[in-house]
Amino acid sequence: MRIPIIAGNWKMYKTPQEAVAFVNAIKGPLADLSAAERVVCPPYVALPGVAQALEGTEIAVGAQDLHWEDEGAYTSQVSGPMLKGLVKYVIIGHSETREYQGVTNEMVNKKAKAALHHGLHPIIAVGESLAINEAGNTQSFVETQIRAAFDGIPASDLERIVIAYEPIWAIGTGKSASGEQANAIIGNIRATIADLYDDAVAGAMRIQYGGSVKPNNMIEFMSQPHIDGALVGGAALKEDSFVELVRLAIEAKGL
Ligand code: PGA
Repeated sequence: MRIPIIAGNWKMYKTPQEAVAFVNAIKGPLADLSAAERVVCPPYVALPGVAQALEGTEIAVGAQDLHWEDEGAYTSQVSGPMLKGLVKYVIIGHSETREYQGVTNEMVNKKAKAALHHGLHPIIAVGESLAINEAGNTQSFVETQIRAAFDGIPASDLERIVIAYEPIWAIGTGKSASGEQANAIIGNIRATIADLYDDAVAGAMRIQYGGSVKPNNMIEFMSQPHIDGALVGGAALKEDSFVELVRLAIEAKGL
C-alpha cells in the first residue's frame, strides 16, 4: 500500500520564529493523524528551528531545493551535505525554480542524484504550462520531464522518491485540475515509470497532485486511485487548514 503523503511547500513565507510557532501549533493535532505522512518544507533559514521543534515527532521536514554540487562558488545555493541530518525530503524541480531560476530537466536530474547520494528523499515536481495544456501536449511534455529526471537513477533508489504533478496553470491561481484530469496524467506518469523500470516499482511509487489544493477539493483529489497525496502551497500556510488536509486525505483513502 502507498502511504499518503501531504507536504506543505511554504515557498518564501514565514520567518524562522513564525515557522517554529506554526509547527509547535500543528504537532499536537497531527500526532493522531499518523495514517498519512506529514511533511513541512519551510525556507532554508527556518529549517534548523523547525527540525528541532519537530524532534521526536513523526512530522518530517523538507527543503525546497538543493544544488547538485557538495560545495563551491555558488552564491545563494545550499547543498546536500548542508541539508543532511536536518531534513528528510527535498523538493526538486518546482515550477517556480524552473521558471525563475532557470532550472532545466538536466539540472533536476543532477539535483535528484545529489539528493539521493546524500540520503535525502527527493520530491520531484513536474507539470505543464497553460499553453502546453491547451495545445493538448500535456502527456508528452510531462513524460519528457519524467524521463529526464530519472535518467541514470537505479531502481533501488526509487522507494525514496516522490513525484509531484503540478500543472503550472493551477499553482496559486485558485484554478485546479479536476480530480479525474489529474488522475489521468498521474496514471500516465506511473506508466512511464513502469516503462523505465517495472510494474512493481511503478505500483509502489507515490505520486502527489499539487496546484490550488484546498480543504474543499482535497477529497476529490485523494479519492482518485493514482493520487497518493498533495503538495500544497497556500492552504498549507494556515494551521487549521493544513491539519484538515491531512485528515481529509486519510478519510478519502479510508484509512
Ligand atoms: P498552491 O501551490 O497550493 O498555492 O497552488 C502549490 C505548489 O506550488 O506546490
